[in-house]
Amino acid sequence: MKAYPLVVFISGAGSTLKAIIDAANNYKIVAIICNNPDALGIEHAIKANIPCHVIDHSKFADKQSFEAEIIRCLSFHDFKLIALAGFMRILSPEFVAHYPDQIINIHPSLLPKYPGLNTYHKALANNDTEHGTTIHYVSPEVDSGTIIAQEKFAISKDDDNNSLAQKTKSIEQKLYPQVLNDFMPKYAQKDAK
Ligand code: GRF
Repeated sequence: MKAYPLVVFISGAGSTLKAIIDAANNYKIVAIICNNPDALGIEHAIKANIPCHVIDHSKFADKQSFEAEIIRCLSFHDFKLIALAGFMRILSPEFVAHYPDQIINIHPSLLPKYPGLNTYHKALANNDTEHGTTIHYVSPEVDSGTIIAQEKFAISKDDDNNSLAQKTKSIEQKLYPQVLNDFMPKYAQKDAK
């Protein structure tokens, strides 16, 4: 099977990006978009020799011009899918509509529980017995598109914010590459022109 071309969006440490780079088999990362010039994840792109467009959202007058610059940069690449991996900007409905059914995200909760931020805190505050992660299509409403995959684990009585973050990230770093390698090729190649 020919590897399909993938773009990854990041904002921070890029630990998920690193896992996606290391496990690439049925996909090939052709570009990375990063909105944060200080993101440590940029190093992973440089080391892997993957073009990385650093587009600092704070330098743009509004979301529309920021996203227009992302679209301009993406126009230089041929790709089938965009994977958001710790990308901390909310994409506008117009941007999402520009790439219909082509954007997926990983979110650190068992959606539809806890869309948005502070998911570990919310799970602990509610005395939840389990937590996990969700991979889903991106739709105009935040963290609410069709679910592709979920994985969960039991919360132990000793867990705190940090340990929940660590446990979640460790399953995310296996699940995201697995979904990109095993599930998404069927989708990404379906419409191959
Ligand atoms: C992950 O927990 C993901 O679920 C969330 O952001 C985190 C990614 O962090 N959307 P990193 O920048 O990949 O380390």
